[in-house]
Order: sequence, then structure tokens, then C-alpha cells
Amino acid sequence: MLKGKHIVLGISGGIAAYKSVFLLRLLVKAGAEVQVVITPNGKEFITPVTLSSLSGKPAISEFFTANTGEWHSHVDLGLWADLMIIAPATASTIAKMANGVADNMLVTSYLSTKAHVMVAPAMDLDMWAHPSTRRNIATLVADGVEIISPAAGELASHLVGKGRMEEPQNILKAIESYFDTLHPAVPPALNGKKVIVTAGPTHEKIDPVRFIGNYSSGKMGFEIARECARRGADVTLVCGPVALPTPNPDIERFDVTSALEMYETTRSFVQSADIAIFAAAVADYRPEVCRESKIKREKQQEPVIKLVKNPDIAAECGRGKRKNQFFVGFALETDNELENAQEKLVKKNLDMIVLNSLRDQGAGFQCDTNKITIVTADDTVSFPLKSKTDVASDVVDRIILELNKGK
Ligand code: CTP
Repeated sequence: MLKGKHIVLGISGGIAAYKSVFLLRLLVKAGAEVQVVITPNGKEFITPVTLSSLSGKPAISEFFTANTGEWHSHVDLGLWADLMIIAPATASTIAKMANGVADNMLVTSYLSTKAHVMVAPAMDLDMWAHPSTRRNIATLVADGVEIISPAAGELASHLVGKGRMEEPQNILKAIESYFDTLHPAVPPALNGKKVIVTAGPTHEKIDPVRFIGNYSSGKMGFEIARECARRGADVTLVCGPVALPTPNPDIERFDVTSALEMYETTRSFVQSADIAIFAAAVADYRPEVCRESKIKREKQQEPVIKLVKNPDIAAECGRGKRKNQFFVGFALETDNELENAQEKLVKKNLDMIVLNSLRDQGAGFQCDTNKITIVTADDTVSFPLKSKTDVASDVVDRIILELNKGK
């Protein structure tokens, strides 16, 4: 039932930690991929070895692995997760979560994740009843965290429930029903459709150690690819050099470096695609030659790098667009935004442009938010500042709307 779901199981230091072993077993049996994150205190109650052997992945506790120095990225973990469950959550962990005290890997991952978070508190009666715990729990609820507890019904009132941790079976049920209610909410409107997405920057080599690039992180394109896959599409993602995990295991991903490589790969897939979304920040120019050896500082005149034009991937693909294909481009502008976007729509033979203005705060490269205007031949709609996840959902909604119009 949880097949392929990515779950982060956070364990903090309470006597109920032994129950997490049962929860872990249930999750793995239900088909989930589980990454355990345990607090330093948690390790006093249960050994990471037990957890790793059940989950098949090393349990993470520290920011670094002591012997190898390998860094565990809480951001990657947060992105990877479809759900985070903290069981048991002690009074101290709950307090840290409520107040953003990121002094361990568990709370840091919580602060980084965009996934739904569940918390199964476990503590003695006095700690559970304490006004400070009540306040912290109320804060978590207000922050959208789901509290799984035999006393959950009493949270809103002044009645004090027991601090005992919910039974693993019931936690599993809560997790399953979260995913159950999630899925019907997204009708698979793109079922059977082939979608190609380009994302990220391109790197144009100057010599073996240098390149011309740009600040694109690839986040927007990856969110769009993820959203299309969520709606049932068959997604091919062609991406330049980015540091992002593939957002969905069903996505076919091709990593490329230069604009020419991105062009070749995209061209070979675009013909059979129903929808193409050109979200990459492709370098418009590349050095005419990539020097075979490193340009040295000494013994030569100041170098001049001659640039030549790269193919415009969107425009080249747009030229061969068939009637039943729908192509979407992005435009990043600093001035005359709308005019330029409309011009690109026509020039590149696209059906829709997603316009970002560099003048808007929180929009564009590197950040997790974006503010867009969707431009089609007969319409222009502006959206408020949103997370890139929500922006992707707006873009895909609009594509589906346009496809249905054409029917
Ligand atoms: N694009 C592309 N290949 C290129 C350049 C751009 O596929 N060599 C695509 C982008 O992925 C985007 C759209 O074209 O969907 C617009 O990109 P943008 O950089 O805004 O436009 P340019 O055509 O490069 O125009 P300019 O840089 O002059 O604004």
C-alpha cells in the first residue's frame, strides 16, 4: 500500500523508541522506503544497527559520518521525503520543532522538508500536561503538523490526555490514510501523455577546467516534471548540471552538460512527445573552441574568448511542432516583460509562456519561490508569489485547461 513511498522516520530519545522498531518493520512490509533519522539521545534507547538492518539504509544521526566525513544533506532528505513521521517525539524534540531549534539532524530535516509531517508524542503525564508542552503542540498543529496520539482528540480542550505513544499499527493506519486522501485529490489528467521537460543551466566549456554557466538551480523544471508525473504523465527530464535528486522514480532522466548536448537529447524525444516544457536556462552562446589544455596565467597575452551562437532549443523544436503537440516556454525578463514574452511566444511557435520577472522579489534563480505570469495567444494571467511546488501545479493546471479547450 505504501509501495515506493519515501518516508523519513525520526526517532527521539524516549523509552517508546523500542516501538519504532515495530513501526519501521510495518512500514517496510507495506512497501515504503524508510530513512531513519535518530537524535543523539534516541541512540541511548535503540541502536542504529538494529534500525539500519531493518530499513536497509544506514540510520542518520549526525550531520557528518564520523569516520568518512561524509555530509548528510538535510535539504536532500527533506526533498526526498513524501512524508516525515517522528515517533517517538519527546517533549524536548516537540519544543525544538515548535521553536525551530535546529541543533540536530532530526529537527534540521523537519525544518527543511516540504513533505507532510506527523508527530507521535511520547512522554510522562506531567510533561504532557505541562502548559509549555501544550503550547508547543498547539504551535505544531498551527504549523500544519499532524499529531498522532491516543489523546489527540483532547488537544483542543484543557483536558489532559495521556502522553503514551500511539501504537505502531495505528500510526501505520494514519500514514496510509494520509496517502489515500492525497491521491484522489489529483485526477490523473495527463494519463498516457508523453511529456518532455528541459531544466537547469548549461555549461559551455572554455578549457578543461572552466566553463560559462548561469545561476539556474533547476528547481522550477524539476517541480514541473514531478507535477506532470503526479498527474499520470510519462515524463522525460533532460537536465543540465544540477544538484537535485530525480523527483519521482518513474521519471526518465538524462543529464547533459552543454546546450548542444541538451539540444541533441531533446530533439530525439520531442517528436514523440504530446507536451514539451522548456524550463532550462540554456546558454545562448558557447566559446567557439574549447581549448585542449588549461589557459595559463603567464606566458601569453590576455585571452580573448570568441563566442558563437547556440541553437535555440525551444525555437528549433517549435519549428517542427505538430498540430496536436503543446509546447511551453519560459521567459526571464528584466524589462518590457509582457511584450517580450508575447514576442517569444510567436517567434518560437509556442502555445504558452511562463514569464518570470527578475524585478519581482523571490522570483527566478536559486530560490524556492516564484512569481509568474502565464501568457497564451489570447490570455494573460498573473499569479501571486508561491512556492515552486505550487507554481508547478498552477502551470500544469493551465496546460490541462488549454489541452481541454482544444478538444
Ligand atoms: N531556450 C532554449 N534554447 C536556448 C535559449 C532559450 O530552449 N538556446 C528556451 C528557454 O528554455 C525558455 C525560452 O527559450 O523556455 C526563453 O528563454 P530566454 O532565455 O528568456 O530567451 P532567449 O530566446 O534566450 O532571449 P533573450 O535571452 O534574448 O531574452
